Amino acid sequence: MAQKFRKIAVLTSGGDAPGMSAAVRAVTRAALAKGVEVMGVKGGYRGLLYDELVPLTSLDVSNKIFLSGTFLYSDRCDKFKEEEGMQKAIETLKKHEIDGVIAIGGDGTFRGATDLSIRGIPTIGVPGTIDNDITATDNTIGFNTAMQTVVENVDRLRDTCESHARCNIVEVMGRGAGDITINTAIATGAVDCVIPECPFDEDACVEKIIRLRRAGKRSFLIIVSEAFPELGEALKKRIDSTTKALAIEEDDDRLWVETKFCRMAHIVRGGTPTLGDRVLATKMGAYAVDLLLDGKSDLIVIEKNGEITSADIRYTQVLDRMYKGTLKEGMLDNYSADQIAAMEAEIAIKKEQFAKTYAMFQMLSE
Ligand code: F6P
Repeated sequence: MAQKFRKIAVLTSGGDAPGMSAAVRAVTRAALAKGVEVMGVKGGYRGLLYDELVPLTSLDVSNKIFLSGTFLYSDRCDKFKEEEGMQKAIETLKKHEIDGVIAIGGDGTFRGATDLSIRGIPTIGVPGTIDNDITATDNTIGFNTAMQTVVENVDRLRDTCESHARCNIVEVMGRGAGDITINTAIATGAVDCVIPECPFDEDACVEKIIRLRRAGKRSFLIIVSEAFPELGEALKKRIDSTTKALAIEEDDDRLWVETKFCRMAHIVRGGTPTLGDRVLATKMGAYAVDLLLDGKSDLIVIEKNGEITSADIRYTQVLDRMYKGTLKEGMLDNYSADQIAAMEAEIAIKKEQFAKTYAMFQMLSE
């Protein structure tokens, strides 16, 4: 029979993401509706180390659904990864008689969640990260808002590019995943984009800009994933100097495409969550409570083909590593041939979708 839950804790950890506050609200209200008390942990796992827990009532989470960032605060806590820190965290949870934890964040957050569950605390993860880099889920909380923020800002850059016949290279966050980059490149009508998932042909990019400028195009946007930290500025110099040389050679200064570089950095993480993120956060938060109170642990909530469901937390971690090519020896030992084949199939689908989307983007950017 499932354990009787009296009190659970909720935390947000890792890079904040718009919609995290909405997820905390949903967790709190769903738990309270089922007669379970809720404690909010301040500042991610660090709050467990320093005993920074606050009770959350329905009123405490009122007026929070639209909040940016996370009102519970967030952090990346190295001490929590050490045994001493972990023990402190467990002591805090025991002191407050916490029966289970819902951890909202990305892959680092989920590693922390498994560390707690190994030590006897049931945990459920909720994917909250702008990067959308959890392979098992189609969507993460914050991804939609981050893309919207990029689009709003890049649209402004386009305005001034169009006036001056310039190029603007925009680097956006997303860690090792190109999801934000490819989608915002499509949505802003960029001429090119650079993502880790598909090879980038720099020569072809420069040639395309020259060709399109000759044809009369005035604004040029290129979206670059932060996975290539040097590339944006180098490309800016190359486009600028190549087109300038061409303008001199042909004695036509209209061919010079003056090029600027803009790193959007943490701007991408801020802002009020979109409708999509508020709804996703609400559904995922409420579902996480259902899972936990149903006696489940070591799962993350995912959205697959429009349905909110769950996946084994370790399976999803291995899947991520397989996708990124960072599997270590022995990591597949506990999985059957069928499970490994299922992982490979899921990854193949995702890669194929990326390749198709990238090819369509390239075709339409001419
Ligand atoms: O994972 C979210 C994210 O914003 C990434 O896109 C980015 O690489 C990283 O966090 C930045 O982390 P920090 O806020 O610690 O600089």
